[in-house]
Amino acid sequence: MTDKKIIAVVGATGAQGGSLARAILNDPDSEFTVRAITRNPDSEKANELATLGAEIVAADIDDYESVKNAFEGAYGAFLITNYWEHFSPEREQAQAMNLARAAKDTALEHVIWSTLEDTRRWVPLDDDRMPTLMGKYKVPHLDAKGEIDHVFTDLGVPTTFLLTSFYFENFINFGMGPKPGPDGRLAITLPMGDKPLPSIAVNDIGKTAYRIFKGGEEFIGKRVAIAGAHLPGTKFADGFSRALKRDVVYNAITPEVFRGLGFPGADDIGNMFQFKADFNEYYTGIRDLNESRHLNPELQSFDEWLQQNIDRIPVE
Ligand SMILES: NC(=O)c1ccc[n+]([C@@H]2O[C@H](COP(=O)([O-])OP(=O)(O)OC[C@H]3O[C@@H](n4cnc5c(N)ncnc54)[C@H](OP(=O)(O)O)[C@@H]3O)[C@@H](O)[C@H]2O)c1
Repeated sequence: MTDKKIIAVVGATGAQGGSLARAILNDPDSEFTVRAITRNPDSEKANELATLGAEIVAADIDDYESVKNAFEGAYGAFLITNYWEHFSPEREQAQAMNLARAAKDTALEHVIWSTLEDTRRWVPLDDDRMPTLMGKYKVPHLDAKGEIDHVFTDLGVPTTFLLTSFYFENFINFGMGPKPGPDGRLAITLPMGDKPLPSIAVNDIGKTAYRIFKGGEEFIGKRVAIAGAHLPGTKFADGFSRALKRDVVYNAITPEVFRGLGFPGADDIGNMFQFKADFNEYYTGIRDLNESRHLNPELQSFDEWLQQNIDRIPVE
């Protein structure tokens, strides 16, 4: 039996939750221990977490009772929903409500809800600059999260709202890395014009979340927005050129062209980039780099991240 405070980590087998789990488990002096929540306790990723010292508990965030059972006895929880598994804003919100209710009903003392902006505060549905999607969203995977924030507050759950940024890892896992263009030159393609894109190494999300749990009370009720870099496409391309020792250029396309790329969610992500470009001052301003580094002094720049991860970048 441990006397450490238990942090239940939803998404512990994934990017954000996994980075928090490792940040805690890699600190032998931590006042916290990790309860990794997963639907598949026998998966390889769950086994890896168990080897690092995590307790593995099965729960499905579609099922309130299972989440409540998984939170019993914990001090806090890191809460995430994965929109990209089902592409349903309504299901994402139902999952978030299960998480908030379970946190309330098990009297958790501190939760971090990984949320994002409800972009309709900036781009009302009648704003024609970008299409309305699914009848009532501009950026469904952002709007659904932001719209549900109030449930945590309404229920009186002691919550820190964590607003993250575009993962650098999207250049590895999300098909956004350098690809040869018609002229044979490698290019990265973004619909951001010359505007900087706030972005971050996934590990820094976990390190920041760990810092927030350590800070406890000081962060409850606060919104914390983080990024490790604010780079325009040209600077990402320059970074790739240096790291790959090959010429990489920035291919700036319009949000319209991006929306038409044809992969599932292209319209949603096209609108997301347009929101980040059109409201760039707000979007970069809130994700202040100095404040992010103050919370997490190990915060990586894109170049630092790239040096460590260049072998993982799929280049044709
Ligand atoms: N890509 C980006 O740049 C970016 C930036 C900011 C925010 N986001 C947001 O991040 C979210 C995804 O987080 P991620 O990148 O950390 O995910 P991820 O690496 O794809 O992993 C998803 C995690 O969610 C868990 N999960 C999914 N459905 C579940 C369910 N029904 N019950 C229990 N656990 C469930 C999975 O656990 P098991 O499979 O083990 O059960 C897994 O650990 C998305 O909503 C996205 O909008 C992404």
